[in-house]
Amino acid sequence: MEGSNYAFALNCGLSAVTAALSLLKKEDHLLTVDDVYGGTQRYLRKVFGPQTGIDWDMTDMTSFENFKKGFKKNTTMVWVESPTNPTLKCLDIKRIAEYCKLKGALLVVDNTFMSPALQVSFRLISKFKFILQILESVKTRC
Ligand SMILES: Cc1ncc(COP(=O)(O)O)c(C=O)c1O
Repeated sequence: MEGSNYAFALNCGLSAVTAALSLLKKEDHLLTVDDVYGGTQRYLRKVFGPQTGIDWDMTDMTSFENFKKGFKKNTTMVWVESPTNPTLKCLDIKRIAEYCKLKGALLVVDNTFMSPALQVSFRLISKFKFILQILESVKTRC
């Protein structure tokens, strides 16, 4: 699908979010954008974090330096939205992807607003091979 090697169709965005988060293991650290979607944030705070004990932090990724500071030795997944929902912060996905590749972390791009026609994530996949993109088809394909 759209240049990617694999695609899974799920019934809603939150299903995709929980499926992607299930890739994390106990000793891993997850770094998310500070403005991550409310449903994802509540799931992390109320269910995923307490149930799995997996360490996770949110950070402002509009500043690349700040993003790098949020990285820990065990950061294995970085979670971005761009533009974020709801405050429409835009991130430099390519730069973040390059850093994730350097550190060996999986980058998840939860794309609720930008369709692949305008968003670069999938075009980066052939280069980086480790980006997981969540597309919200109800919102972007109408
Ligand atoms: C960034 C983001 N991720 C996930 C979701 C959840 O999608 P759904 O309502 O299809 O479960 C939304 C919903 O608006 C969203 O904006």
